Amino acid sequence: MAPIQNSAVVFAEIPSGYPEVGKHIKYVKDRTIDLDTVDIQGGIVTKNLVISIDPYMRGRMRSAEKKSYSAPFELNQPLANFFVGKVVKTDNSKFNIGQYVYGFGNYEEYTIHIKAQADLLRILRDEELQLGLSLTTWVGAAGMPGQTAYHGFYHIGEPKKDETIFITGASGAVGQIVGQLAKREGLKVIGSAGSDDKVKWLQTELNFDHAFNYKTSDVKAELAKFDPLNIYFDNVGGDQLEAALDAAANYARFIECGMISQYNQADSHGIRNLMNIVGKRLKLQGFIILDKARDASFQQEFYSKVPKWIANGELKIKEDVTKGLEKAPEALVGIFQGKNFGKAVIQIADD
Ligand SMILES: NC(=O)c1ccc[n+]([C@@H]2O[C@H](COP(=O)([O-])OP(=O)(O)OC[C@H]3O[C@@H](n4cnc5c(N)ncnc54)[C@H](OP(=O)(O)O)[C@@H]3O)[C@@H](O)[C@H]2O)c1
Repeated sequence: MAPIQNSAVVFAEIPSGYPEVGKHIKYVKDRTIDLDTVDIQGGIVTKNLVISIDPYMRGRMRSAEKKSYSAPFELNQPLANFFVGKVVKTDNSKFNIGQYVYGFGNYEEYTIHIKAQADLLRILRDEELQLGLSLTTWVGAAGMPGQTAYHGFYHIGEPKKDETIFITGASGAVGQIVGQLAKREGLKVIGSAGSDDKVKWLQTELNFDHAFNYKTSDVKAELAKFDPLNIYFDNVGGDQLEAALDAAANYARFIECGMISQYNQADSHGIRNLMNIVGKRLKLQGFIILDKARDASFQQEFYSKVPKWIANGELKIKEDVTKGLEKAPEALVGIFQGKNFGKAVIQIADD
């Protein structure tokens, strides 16, 4: 077989503020792969079907010298993130052609996973595929963002019935799952989002007790309408974190999941009311869900429950699927402007 096209989205330049399409992130068509001759070193080749867009990718768009919890993207190489692909070539007895795998892949049509990388991939089992979820969901509610919601809410939040929780970024990939888990456990759920459509969806489809548009409302005044917060699930940081500190009950738990309002800022927003932590005896805990990737007991707990809850409709999911790798740069930049409504995913190919 002759070499075939292997288009990609590459990291072209380090941004200082918001990344720009065509400048910092570029779609490139002039790459090829020869599936007959490619050297896979005990690994596999996948045809990539769906790939996730996640806010933490902004943190990987940095210079190689800066240290952080995730590796920097390499200049002029494809972006990488959680994906689902189909095995099209294997030199590894663990994998068969035609299997679907989940894990780290590249923003390209085909990826070579050498043995060490292939060993980290999770094969989607037949009984999981029979649940009938879309492949996009395995990188969303049944993948890393779902794990983030589940771990943060249950293991850090220590929720109790009738408590009040406030979730920012509430219509997003993580927030929508946290809100539904909280309703399921009998909590009063308040959420904020950046458009009236998103707010309406939280109220009418997910039955949040209260939701508001943080861009057009006074966040402190909205929170003052309710009981003090027992749990704050923080996806955004900044002003809303400050408002949550003022609205917290004694002994509230702050689940520090992310601070997207700060990711494109040169200077971080200073939080002015941290003394609340002392006076109210608050617990603030950050976490990185990747730490749980090799925790077999957590993986078992998550995968034995959440995909089934999605399949039987106990958990509703909203996804924002963009078709075509060439549209990925725009979709990626869009999440930092709130353009996605639901979990942002790229559909690279149908099968
Ligand atoms: N700790 C971990 O291991 C972990 C894992 C996964 C995700 N996270 C974090 O969790 C958070 C949510 O991630 P996600 O995947 O669920 O993303 P997402 O909500 O699906 O997408 C990002 C959303 O953030 C909101 N946003 C963008 N800029 C904002 C700003 N300046 N202020 C307030 N909101 C803004 C937008 O919604 P609006 O229209 O509502 O503004 C946008 O749609 C992020 O902070 C992410 O980094 C952490």
